[in-house]
Amino acid sequence: MKLKIGIIGFGTVGRSVAKILCRDDSGPLLLTHICNRNMERKKIEGLPAHIHWTSDVNEVLASDVDVVLELIGGLEPAGDLVRRALRGGKSVVTANKLLISEHGPELADLARKVGRRLEFGASVAGGIPAIIGIQEGLAGDRLYRIAGILNGTSNFILTKMEATGATLEATLKEAQERGYAEADPSADIDGIDARAKLVILAQAGLRLRVRSEQIPCRSISLVEAVDFMYARELKCAIRQISVAQKDTVNGVRLRAAVQPALVPADSLIAHAQGNQNIVMATGEFAGRMIFAGYGAGGDPTAVAVISDLYAIARSAGAPPEALPGAAEVPDSVTGDFTVPHYLRFVVRDRPGIVAALATILAKYDISIDALLQKPGFPHSALSFVMTLEACDSAELNRALAEIAPLDFHVEPPLCLPVFVD
Ligand SMILES: NC(=O)c1ccc[n+]([C@@H]2O[C@H](COP(=O)([O-])OP(=O)(O)OC[C@H]3O[C@@H](n4cnc5c(N)ncnc54)[C@H](OP(=O)(O)O)[C@@H]3O)[C@@H](O)[C@H]2O)c1
Repeated sequence: MKLKIGIIGFGTVGRSVAKILCRDDSGPLLLTHICNRNMERKKIEGLPAHIHWTSDVNEVLASDVDVVLELIGGLEPAGDLVRRALRGGKSVVTANKLLISEHGPELADLARKVGRRLEFGASVAGGIPAIIGIQEGLAGDRLYRIAGILNGTSNFILTKMEATGATLEATLKEAQERGYAEADPSADIDGIDARAKLVILAQAGLRLRVRSEQIPCRSISLVEAVDFMYARELKCAIRQISVAQKDTVNGVRLRAAVQPALVPADSLIAHAQGNQNIVMATGEFAGRMIFAGYGAGGDPTAVAVISDLYAIARSAGAPPEALPGAAEVPDSVTGDFTVPHYLRFVVRDRPGIVAALATILAKYDISIDALLQKPGFPHSALSFVMTLEACDSAELNRALAEIAPLDFHVEPPLCLPVFVD
């Protein structure tokens, strides 16, 4: 018996899924339905004649397909579609990070209730088997930290800026021309896209239910070409880093944020080039595990979708056993980390600037590690960097609130955490 599949949403990922599924019909998967609004304009040649093409999702939901692939994206009507498919006795595979980050637990509960499967391996890191690796491969560990690069567009931009010295605007334009960035790139650049994936990873790996808006995000647009110059001096790279860390001293606390950060240039995380992703999961028993590769694109994402289909075929559609340790709501969620920091200032040069900064930092018990100043900046806009020994970012923000009104700034100081592991 083959598992009958219906695709809803015949775009980039849907087309790749169809292409790969139809390349080999000897396996347990059979594509029978393809649905997209205004289907006539989406039809392609070369797929088997038995496939039923339709513009009406109800035809797929009322058909005999075993699994619905939701590949339209967005919250609605995708959410309604997934609920109707599950209630109608079908399993669902989705690549929709927005839907799963907002409604994943509710939809998983519904799937369990109706005895069907809901799989979302493609919703985080595209073709990289991070969700299945964490949820199943590492189910025997107790994970307490997940960190990584979860947005390929931001990584393309930052690694390109690092390699060429170009501005963010110029690099973004190139990313858009090469199809790596949307016309409106804000979800990628401002960390919104990575944050949705971090929410899903926190649920799957740390067993914590958290809402997107609880996790602070900072934009990579704060980073300028000069920061790569100073980062290089410090033997560091700058990347959009997503971190979720579970602390269980005095209750369950989640420390989580998506932001540009310095990482050692020779670290594995810094080696994710271009639009690649990396997910690092650290557990109490097995230590750190790393998943890396292409986190987006039609074909890599289709691989994750089809792997989910194979998992359903192997289980004959039955829901998986409950994972150990039901997901819980943390007692608190904070974006604060106790780590070294990088501060970059652009000032109108005059005597006493460093002394004024050091006095305020000392008031908050924050120690300066090093001062760096490259030659060649004009006195009217002199750029220099201070690195700080490990300190709590909340405490540092209080010090920066006192530093910000000082009259020598030409632009607001930039503060980036340094993640060393
Ligand atoms: N592309 C990637 O690299 C990637 C990676 C990981 C995850 N994902 C996720 O995969 C999903 C699909 O992404 P994609 O890149 O394939 O998007 P896409 O190229 O925009 O494809 C979406 C398709 O769904 C169709 N559609 C939209 N609303 C519909 C509706 N109400 N009824 C029927 N069809 C509808 C669209 O039709 P029109 O042509 O009329 O707009 C389009 O063909 C999203 O959740 C995305 O976040 C994508």
